Amino acid sequence: MSDFFKTWVKDESMREQTHLGSLSAPSPMELAPPSGSYKTDWEELTREQRCSRAWVEIDLDAIGENVAQIRTKLQPNTAVMAIVKADGYGHGAAYVAQAALRAGATWLGVATVWEGVELRQAGITAPILVLEAISDRDRVITAREHQLDLTVAFTKQAVALSNLFSSSERPLPIHLNIDTGMSRLGVDWTEAESCVRLLRCLSGLELKTIYSHLATADEPDTTMVHEQHRRFETVLHRLRAIGCDQPIHFSNSAGAIAFPELHYDMVRVGLALYGIAPAPHLADQITLRPAMSVRAKVTQLRTLPPGRGVSYGHRFISERETKLATVGIGYADGVPRLLSGRLAVAIRGQLAPQVGTITMDQLLVDVTELASVEVGDTVTLIGADGHQRLTAQQWAETIGSIPWEIVCGFRQRLPRLYHLASGLIEPTPGIQPTSGVEFGDGSSKTNEASDFKYGNGI
Ligand SMILES: Cc1ncc(COP(=O)(O)O)c(C=O)c1O
Repeated sequence: MSDFFKTWVKDESMREQTHLGSLSAPSPMELAPPSGSYKTDWEELTREQRCSRAWVEIDLDAIGENVAQIRTKLQPNTAVMAIVKADGYGHGAAYVAQAALRAGATWLGVATVWEGVELRQAGITAPILVLEAISDRDRVITAREHQLDLTVAFTKQAVALSNLFSSSERPLPIHLNIDTGMSRLGVDWTEAESCVRLLRCLSGLELKTIYSHLATADEPDTTMVHEQHRRFETVLHRLRAIGCDQPIHFSNSAGAIAFPELHYDMVRVGLALYGIAPAPHLADQITLRPAMSVRAKVTQLRTLPPGRGVSYGHRFISERETKLATVGIGYADGVPRLLSGRLAVAIRGQLAPQVGTITMDQLLVDVTELASVEVGDTVTLIGADGHQRLTAQQWAETIGSIPWEIVCGFRQRLPRLYHLASGLIEPTPGIQPTSGVEFGDGSSKTNEASDFKYGNGI
């Protein structure tokens, strides 16, 4: 510890001034900045202040349109589960969920119990399936308290759940995940029948649906999709033979778009909901509109002489007199550092190359060729600016990633602005709405789960 900090800790008067009192265990209140010194209340800030550096825009109309597009691919009685895990793939789970439900989705899928709880706290009443397989008492009880349906993926887990609810008046709704080839989660397809026989002997559980997950539906080679389908059909044939006729779901976005024979009673749609095709070869099979735009502000402009190194490591050296714009967004916000020197952004409707290493909070753009740029100009990294269209898929292709990872990268730091044709909604980052989502038209529709049955044909 430097002398300065030693002095600071020892200095009793300083301790008083900073309200630290005892240094042993400061409470969160004590750590909050002294009131009045600067603005910390998000609610008090104007939109300009909130978006002074960088922000994410989410177009909720696009979410609704994408659900409608997906539904054109389905039979009218096939339901849609909107997958809103990872905070709605970085788009804001509660907002996306409400937009999807308004557009006709009837179920929601989340990865964890806590994600489900957040949706309930936001006032959402639609049925929610937790996709992870849990059996520890605390999480199971929390799920039950919030009316979250659980996935069962192995027999020991089913026994543990049954033990918890065997004397309960209401059985626990469960959904059986059968592994037909993903090799991640689920009862092996060869053991599915014996698992269902076991479930029938266990008290306290109610088997609601049977599902599986596709491993390669977004690959051009469809061999494994057909093999998973064959295995699943074999299982379903055996289950029907023993009188098990629960609803079935199998398809993710790629399955919903490209394999009508895999739709069954419901599809579980993630990426397509957000307006992104799961693979380039599927893009022309459905019209999707990306819901997410990422924008930031020019914070400084400078002109460099030839031969100047730019950013960490000086991986870019100006070859000519270069007009350089500093932009207030970096890898801590969700722009992958691997994109350094391989990214194009749009300013005033014109493309400009990003140069040098992307830093934690800032990046640099060569704007020499642009007619005019000023401090405060908006820079589009993902989204539309005039005729320019910049996409998460382009980023993913450039760095050998996938669009799922790119959009999830914007989960944490940036404020989000939500657009509806009828108005703009501005939530507080990190805080979910507490009583249903207010839409621009003044409504706050919730979707009644009606005894947690499917709304659509099941
Ligand atoms: C079990 C399950 N179903 C559906 C989905 C949605 O997949 P996609 O985003 O490809 O539509 C996921 C996403 O990972 C998933 O894990």
